[in-house]
Amino acid sequence: MKRMLISGGNKLTGTISIGGAKNSAVALLPAAILGGVSTIKNVPHISDVNALIDILELLNCQTKLEGHELTIDARHLKNTLIPHKYSNRLRASYYFMGALLGREKYVEIYIPGGCNIGARPIDMHIDGFKALGANIKIDGDKYILEAQKLVGTDIYLRFQSVGATINIMLAAVYAEGTTIIHNAAEEAEIVNIADFLNAMGAKITGVGTNTITIKGVKTLTGAEISVLPDRIEAGTYIILGALIGENLCIKNIIPKHIEALTSKLSEMGAALTIKPHEVIISATKNLKPCNIKTLVYPGFATDIGQPMSVLLTQANGTSLFEETIWENRMGHVPSLNKMGANIKVNGMSAIIEGPTKLHGSEVIATDLRGGAALVLAGLTADGTTIITDVEHILRGYEDIVNKLTQVGAKIELEEI
Ligand code: EPZ
Repeated sequence: MKRMLISGGNKLTGTISIGGAKNSAVALLPAAILGGVSTIKNVPHISDVNALIDILELLNCQTKLEGHELTIDARHLKNTLIPHKYSNRLRASYYFMGALLGREKYVEIYIPGGCNIGARPIDMHIDGFKALGANIKIDGDKYILEAQKLVGTDIYLRFQSVGATINIMLAAVYAEGTTIIHNAAEEAEIVNIADFLNAMGAKITGVGTNTITIKGVKTLTGAEISVLPDRIEAGTYIILGALIGENLCIKNIIPKHIEALTSKLSEMGAALTIKPHEVIISATKNLKPCNIKTLVYPGFATDIGQPMSVLLTQANGTSLFEETIWENRMGHVPSLNKMGANIKVNGMSAIIEGPTKLHGSEVIATDLRGGAALVLAGLTADGTTIITDVEHILRGYEDIVNKLTQVGAKIELEEI
């Protein structure tokens, strides 16, 4: 167990380099089992990636991680039950459902884990697999998926689910005939996964729109792909720059992927300059309040709502923060209020009165992005903040202590 100690109040200046996207990497690794020998570049060093490497090894895939480059040899895969202690370490273990169903037509896996941010059902994934011809048995916490063969079909998602879109794509690449996913999610990460599958020999078109067409193929080879930059890590540090930056440069980003955030920041009067691959941002005193409503891509990302709520505590007036994707994304609010914020939660919405002075406190990270929000609050606050349960944060933010220390933050991790 670790805790994080932060001594707040320092201005941050210098450059933070953004790593590969967690939510892309966690699908690319399982996708690699659909081919032979693959290389994934720009892999972030986060615990979710380690958990997936352990599952790949369990399935007899050979893996080699050198720096940020991961080689996966899936030629000698042995299909085996993925036990609870492996699947439960992260949400994305469920991508082995689609990938194994595609390749092996048989999967045994226990339920996935992940942040406690809502009920997180997987009914759309299961319905998609069934539509492709799979039989699904649920035995307690274990799923058994099997099919004689998969046959392409039209699948209508009732919501633009990132996970269901990717999982159905992973199975459908090996289906006979054509699958069309209607009302598909449009996130940039999905384009990254489809680029990888297409480089392996898949025939996927329409990614980045809400209609994805997958023409099934008989074989896929290995391929090379680079994980796209993490738009949520980028967004988190850009918000930090708006809080306490002094020409803080966030580099290695794709500005288009974070437009919903940067346009809100401009609306608030934040001092930011957007360049082709970086954003430079400084704190300003006169931030205007604003209303945030999280939406599917390209709307304001739910994963950046909690960090953004910290900035709203420093705006001059009343802001509304409305979450629409997850029922339980306000877990960080009691901690922010303990640190001096004035936030009233009503169901999935919060009214944030600003500006309020934040002071250091002992707080608990209840989930990944809520934990990141507490790091931002701790760095902004006067005095010392101690964050416990930081394992949530380490699941998704690569090398966070070093990246922040390099720009002048006083932050350390301590074993407890
Ligand atoms: C992905 O989760 C991300 N996780 C989440 O990031 C992110 O918040 C979310 O997409 C939305 O952008 C990963 O990529 C590993 P969804 P996912 O399926 O795929 C409901 C983070 O902080 N739903 O798009 O699980 C669901 O309950 C994480 O990095 C069903 O009802 O999200 C939710 O309300 C947290 N049935 C909504 O859809 C289903 O079968 C969106 O879920 C599937 C989803």
